[in-house]
Amino acid sequence: MQHPLTIVVFGATGDLFKKKLAKVFFDIYEKGILPQDTEIIGISRKLLTDNEWRDWIKEVLKREKYSEQEEKFFSKFFYLPGDIKDKKTFNDLSIKLGERDERLKRCSNKLFYLAVFPALYQELFEMIAGSGLAIPCAPGFDQQEGWIKILVEKPFGENADEAEKLDLLLGTLFMENQIFRVDHYLAKETIQNLLVFRFANPLFEALWCSKHIRSISVKMFEENSVKERGSFYDKVGALKDVGQNHLLSLLSLIAMEMPKEFSAESIRSEREKVLELIKVKDEATRAQYDGYKNEVGVSENSETETYFKANLKVDNNRWNDVNFVIEHGKGFSKTEAFIEITYFENTPDELFLGTPNKLIFEIQPKEKIEIEFSAKKPGFGFEIEKQYMQFHYKEDGVSPFFYPYEKLFVDALSGDQTLFVSTGEMKEAWRIVSGIEKNMKKNDLKIYQKGIDRGNLEK
Ligand code: BG6
Repeated sequence: MQHPLTIVVFGATGDLFKKKLAKVFFDIYEKGILPQDTEIIGISRKLLTDNEWRDWIKEVLKREKYSEQEEKFFSKFFYLPGDIKDKKTFNDLSIKLGERDERLKRCSNKLFYLAVFPALYQELFEMIAGSGLAIPCAPGFDQQEGWIKILVEKPFGENADEAEKLDLLLGTLFMENQIFRVDHYLAKETIQNLLVFRFANPLFEALWCSKHIRSISVKMFEENSVKERGSFYDKVGALKDVGQNHLLSLLSLIAMEMPKEFSAESIRSEREKVLELIKVKDEATRAQYDGYKNEVGVSENSETETYFKANLKVDNNRWNDVNFVIEHGKGFSKTEAFIEITYFENTPDELFLGTPNKLIFEIQPKEKIEIEFSAKKPGFGFEIEKQYMQFHYKEDGVSPFFYPYEKLFVDALSGDQTLFVSTGEMKEAWRIVSGIEKNMKKNDLKIYQKGIDRGNLEK
């Protein structure tokens, strides 16, 4: 991990860099995870100098002051203004990378981070290939000494056909073990814990099937509107922004069979296998919050959904007849994300008729696991009430050491692909989303008021 590293970020002044990557680089540098000799090259169309970009990052980080060590880290950030559609940008980058290796007298590791609109991927891949950037080092260096890895943000492509074409192209440039398709939800602590929860606790795994479970919902609501991401969002919409990736990834972890071993290959293969079994049911809803069309970058006649809900089934014996739901929306009253597993209630001929048991994995705002069960209400009578058993990652003092993007960087650097989406998973997710999109479009686009409570949209 101490081999010199050069990180190249395409989209260096974009939303992702601003919201996540700038902070992540500092955090992993401070935790000693980045090699001492790391440089970060940011590429974007804005005309900035190195210092102007560093100042912009300072503004983004909003820290009151910076330690000597942090100031030193700022000097490792370099900016390259350039258009992704222009060959010159890639020639300039190639020169910069070559010069660094010359200075080092060795072939540095290189990590390309693609934090740009999916519509730019094809050109970007072609430019990378055309400028020789898929080759780890300039001629004369030991090509085995350094590696190249590429991190690609979601959504990968704009639709199923295009994603397949892009993937083929990417596959001609890089080996699958060099490609890291990012889905940061897979790196969330509560989500990683799903594997342990399911496969280290026979108590729950024994009840993990259609005999006991009625439905499973994966839901994510956000208070935020699209904010300044209108021009990106309007081309993508809620289903592709979040459903195609985060929600289906979570669903695959809930529904998959036990991997043969704890390895990236086995886990990714089980996630993919269960996605292959998913069938899209007819009902699918789409809606847009009132005022969306006035957001900056959004077309005035936009039909893009900011909310969707879809019903799915997993076509195997384990999940026969269980209803799976994925649902997401922006502009709701509360930011929350959770997986809700609803068990069957007792039938009236049993001794008590309680409320159905629920098992909830809350990802946001709290990181907790909760079981809803029936208990006797204290008192002279025999009334039954709903009670809860909870485990909180944070409140119980187990604070996560890594935030999702930190974890993803660490894993990418060490070459662990478990938390990254495989080519097969990506294709299956697109197949499912194409089906949902078709069904969703059969229904009119509803309009909802911003700040609405979840559950109220269909009333
Ligand atoms: C991103 C989506 O992938 O995830 C955003 O593009 C969304 O629209 C975000 O807001 C949510 O991530 P988190 O980690 O803040 O829940």
